[in-house]
Formats: sequence, C-alpha cells, structure tokens
Amino acid sequence: MKIALFADVHGNKAALEAVLDDIDRQHPDAIICAGDAVNPFPESEVVWKILRARNIPVVRGNHEEYMLAYYQPDRNPDIRRLIQFMPARFTARQLSTQTVTEIDALPLTHTIAGPDGDDVLVCHASPLRADRSFAAGIDADMTAALAHVPAKTIAGGHVHMQWQMRWRDKFLVLTGSVGQPFGDTTDAQYLMLTHRNGKWHAAHRTVPYNLSATVRAITESDFLKEGGPMAWLMLDELLTAELRMVPFLRKFCPTPRPETLSEWRDWVRRYLEAIGRWEPLQPYIREAYFVFRDACFVTSDA
Ligand SMILES: [Fe+2]
Ligand SMILES: [Fe+2]
Repeated sequence: MKIALFADVHGNKAALEAVLDDIDRQHPDAIICAGDAVNPFPESEVVWKILRARNIPVVRGNHEEYMLAYYQPDRNPDIRRLIQFMPARFTARQLSTQTVTEIDALPLTHTIAGPDGDDVLVCHASPLRADRSFAAGIDADMTAALAHVPAKTIAGGHVHMQWQMRWRDKFLVLTGSVGQPFGDTTDAQYLMLTHRNGKWHAAHRTVPYNLSATVRAITESDFLKEGGPMAWLMLDELLTAELRMVPFLRKFCPTPRPETLSEWRDWVRRYLEAIGRWEPLQPYIREAYFVFRDACFVTSDA
C-alpha cells in the first residue's frame, strides 16, 4: 500500500499541480493533504478548488485557522489586530463563502486504514494542535496526545522541512512543504509512505515546478500591498527557500513590537538590507512599498 502525503501548499497553485502530477505517476492507494493548503499566497481559492475536485482529504493547519480568525472574531482576536497577520487577512478576502465554510469543517486529524490494522494518523503539526509540532519537542502534553493515538505511524507537515524519528513505539514523520519549502531547494516537496515487510517506510520526494508562474501570480495580485511587509518576507522565503519570518520576529524586530505599519515596514526593510535581500526584492516590491499607506490597514473588516 502507498500513501502520498503532502502539506503546506500555502496557496501556491503551480507547486501543487507539479506535485499532483508526480503523485499520479506513482499510483498511490491514497492521497492526503496535511494542512496549510491556503494562505498566504494569492491562489488559495483555486488551490482549494483543485483539492475539492479531486476529493483529497485535508486536515486543518494553523494557516486555515489564521484565515478563519477573520470570520470568527472569538477564535483568535489578536490575528485580526496584529500586523504580522495581514497576509491572512488578504487570504480571507480572496476566498469564497463556500470555501471558508468547507475549511471551517476540517478535522484536526484523519486516520488512513493500513494493512493488518497498521493505520496512519495524519495531522498538520501534531494530534494536539495545528500550530505545535512534535518536532519542536515532546513535553507532557505532547506525550499524552501522541500516546493517545492508536496508530503507530503519525505523519504531518508544518515545519516545511523533511523530518522523521522513532519515539517509543511510534514512527513520527513530517513532509517538506509543497508551496513554501525551506532547505537546499525551492522545489516542491512531499512524502510517499509505502507499507512493506510489516511496516511503513517514508520516501521524501522533491519536484521542480514553475516558480516564475507563482511569482507572477503574486506580483499581479495585491498580495505585496495588502499583505504588508510580512508579505515581502514570505516572497523572499519563496525565492530563496530560507527562513525569513522566524529570524526577523525572533532576532531582529524589537520587543515590544512596533505599533504602526510604517514602523513595521521600516524594520522589515532594515532586516532585508542587513541580509542583502532588499535590492534583489526591488523588482517585486518597490511599487508596493511606495504606494502603500497606513490607511489601507486601518480599514475595518469587522
Ligand atoms: Fe505551513
Ligand atoms: Fe503550519
């Protein structure tokens, strides 16, 4: 039995299409998306339609939750308020009501029946939460959540890097990202699980895709304006396969955080200049940088 598992498409249509083509050539018995199908990149709606048209099961990722926060204010009020989450607001505005309703119904986990009861539990970051990976450490809460899962293999995404380990009697495995990979390559990544000799084996696969088409979709949309300066960091992650958001927020951006969009813009610009990425991004963001106004952010979507 073979299961194709992919995750973290993040609204990158060209990357998803390349991965699905590669998956189809492998003729798996099951295909599943382990969350973060949408947000932040601007083709989230069409990505969702592709997944629905193919009846591919999807589990809920933290980026689905970020997007839903704009429709359900009680869910996480900070996400609607914080400038860091402006790209999620951009995504929320791109999606149809039907898509939002379908995403709201996504489960946190999905179990795929394996041979002789050797099932695979699929989650986004962990069976505990959509935004907390077991790859980041297994504390008491995570131990309880993992131990509670009957399946011996637990698979997901979220970290955007290929990862696997044995923990007690479990096989924990995470796929790289389809639409926003980190590591040695900007190519899309997914995971093929194969059951043989009585257990599951993981093969991480890498698929080239038309990155230029995705960059074009970004520049032809309002993502780099409505998404704010965080969108510039996300674009650079796409172009380089290097982390930008996390190091910026953890090591560069002051705490307490800046209060205005202008300040955020300046801090992001300083960061990109410090790592030598401001000039390479100018063909994409110069116009957005100069036409963007704080007033654009203040408009209420309440
Ligand atoms: Fe992700
Ligand atoms: Fe995630």
